[in-house]
Amino acid sequence: MVKDKILVIGSSGQIGVELTLALRKIYGNNNVIASDLREENELLKGTGPYVSIDVMNKEMLHVQIIRQNITQIYLLAAILSATGEKNPGLAWHLNMQGLLNVLDIAREENLKKVYWPSSIAVFGPTSPKQNCPQQTIIEPTTVYGISKYAGEFWCNYYNIKYGIDVRSLRYPGLISYKSAPGGGTTDYAVEIFHEALEEKKSIPVF
Ligand SMILES: NC(=O)c1ccc[n+]([C@@H]2O[C@H](COP(=O)([O-])OP(=O)(O)OC[C@H]3O[C@@H](n4cnc5c(N)ncnc54)[C@H](O)[C@@H]3O)[C@@H](O)[C@H]2O)c1
Repeated sequence: MVKDKILVIGSSGQIGVELTLALRKIYGNNNVIASDLREENELLKGTGPYVSIDVMNKEMLHVQIIRQNITQIYLLAAILSATGEKNPGLAWHLNMQGLLNVLDIAREENLKKVYWPSSIAVFGPTSPKQNCPQQTIIEPTTVYGISKYAGEFWCNYYNIKYGIDVRSLRYPGLISYKSAPGGGTTDYAVEIFHEALEEKKSIPVF
C-alpha cells in the first residue's frame, strides 16, 4: 500500500499552521510537507519538512509533487475577502488559476485526494439570513465569494469528468489562536482576543 504523503500549500497562513501541525500528528512529521510563497512560519520550524512553492508556477509545483511523492494536497493559498476587494483582478487570478493548477496536476499524477476550502462568502445579501441551506439563492457580491463559488463548480467538474476525489467545505469566519489571520472579514474578531490578551483586559460578552 502506498503511504500517504501530504502537501499543504499555503502552510504559513492562518489555517495552514494549525492544520499542518494537526496533520503531522496523524500522518507523521515527515509525511506532511509544508509549503508557501512566504517563508516558513515560526510555529512550524523544526516540526517537519518545508519547501518554498508558488502555486501559480505550475511547472515547479508539478516537479515538487513528483519529487516528494505527494498523494494528497491541501490547497490553502488564496487571497481572502477583504484583501481581494483591494485588488479584484489579482484575487480572481490567484484563487482560480491556483486551483486549476492543482486540479490539473492531480489529474495528471492520479493523486488520491485534493482538499480545497470554500467559504460562506459564496452567499450574498439575497441568501436567507437564518438557517441558510446549502442549496439556496447564491449571489456573491465580492470577488472572493465569486471565486469560491466558481471554484466549487471546477471541483465538481474535475470529479465528474476525471474522477478526482476533491473535498470542500464552506467554512465560516475562523477564529485562530496560534497564527495570525490573513485579510478576511473575521480578522477583527481575532484581533479583539489578541488585544485583550496583550492588554490583559477582559472582553464584555453581550
Ligand atoms: N480564515 C478563514 O476564516 C477562512 C474562512 C473560509 C475559507 N477560508 C479559506 O481557507 C484557505 C486558507 O485561509 P487562511 O485564512 O489560512 O488564509 P491566509 O491568508 O492566512 O493564508 C494563505 C497562505 O497562502 C499563501 N499564498 C498566497 N499566495 C500564494 C502562492 N501564489 N503560492 C503559495 N502560497 C501562497 C500566503 O502566503 C499565506 O500564507 C483559503 O482558501 C481561504 O479562502 C478561510
